[in-house]
Amino acid sequence: MAEIRRPDDMVRITTPELAQAFIDEQIALVKEQVGDKKVLLALSGGVDSSVVAALLIKAIGDQLVCVHVNHGLLRKGEPEQVIEVFRNQMKANLIYVDAVDRFLDLLAGVTDPEQKRHIIGEEFINVFADEARKLEGVEFLAQGTIWPDILESEAGIKAHHNAGGLPEDLQFELVEPVRILFKDEVRVVGDQLGLPAGMVYRQPFPGPGLGVRCPGAITRDRLEAVRESDAILREEFAKNGLEGKVWQYFTVVPDFKSTGVTNGQRSFEWPCIIRAINTTDVVECSVEHLDPAFMDHLVQRITTEVEGINRVLYDFTPKPPATVEWE
Ligand code: XMP
Repeated sequence: MAEIRRPDDMVRITTPELAQAFIDEQIALVKEQVGDKKVLLALSGGVDSSVVAALLIKAIGDQLVCVHVNHGLLRKGEPEQVIEVFRNQMKANLIYVDAVDRFLDLLAGVTDPEQKRHIIGEEFINVFADEARKLEGVEFLAQGTIWPDILESEAGIKAHHNAGGLPEDLQFELVEPVRILFKDEVRVVGDQLGLPAGMVYRQPFPGPGLGVRCPGAITRDRLEAVRESDAILREEFAKNGLEGKVWQYFTVVPDFKSTGVTNGQRSFEWPCIIRAINTTDVVECSVEHLDPAFMDHLVQRITTEVEGINRVLYDFTPKPPATVEWE
């Protein structure tokens, strides 16, 4: 199939009407491309794959097979939300794969950040390929490729095609219905497709997930502390009008401990580091300065509600010299 490119004169999709026109056009194109064949989609629950899923459900219904891989490094409530929105509400043909043990067992004892990323990426493809082989009649693979992915890949900045990683026996034709859109347009289209705001406007979340926020060798208890503290931070940012305003915010739980006092007893537990940054291009990032009373409240909640945490720190370092993630 010829490479589809964004027309130079394409009007930016900013309104429900423009989004609907785009959706109608893509539905017709997808139906024409796919016919009565099956399409496979790795549905992470991120903005791009969720919008592709919602669009394809409208276009081809249960000819779309969505695979949601829970690698154990997702945020609190994410797998449940994917199941609720896509299987229960949109009636998608959704395969949920609990691969938590598979990933965490492979990652046990691995300390090098790049090796952790490599294991997560490779195992994701293995799990997805295992599911794909169980299915019959799949000829297409849908992907949430967007226009900046194409531009960055052409400029040699990053490789975006996860299809490139699939083994030889699994070669599919690609279906990429949002490939000519910018991120803001994908969100307008997602809104128009009826996806929940929390899914459409969520902050960026890295592929290796909480794995890079649990520095060093990932252990299940420390990973749980990352997940719980992240959930509290997100809840508090939402309650205090910071959701959608601050570009990215999360917690990190490093693998060292410090002394503290809990209920009159000496404790020896991990610190929790809060990071909140703003940026336009992620090349340079500034730190969000939180209200001191709000910070006190975060410290109080995290130290009392999250098991294994007795201290909370704030990361005041911009990028550069630091990166956004700790690994
Ligand atoms: P850094 O840490 O490089 O992060 O300053 C810049 C942005 O990229 C995200 N990030 C990743 N996203 N896979 C991803 O999909 C990764 O391995 C990865 N590492 C960092 C990070 O969350 C931030 O938004």
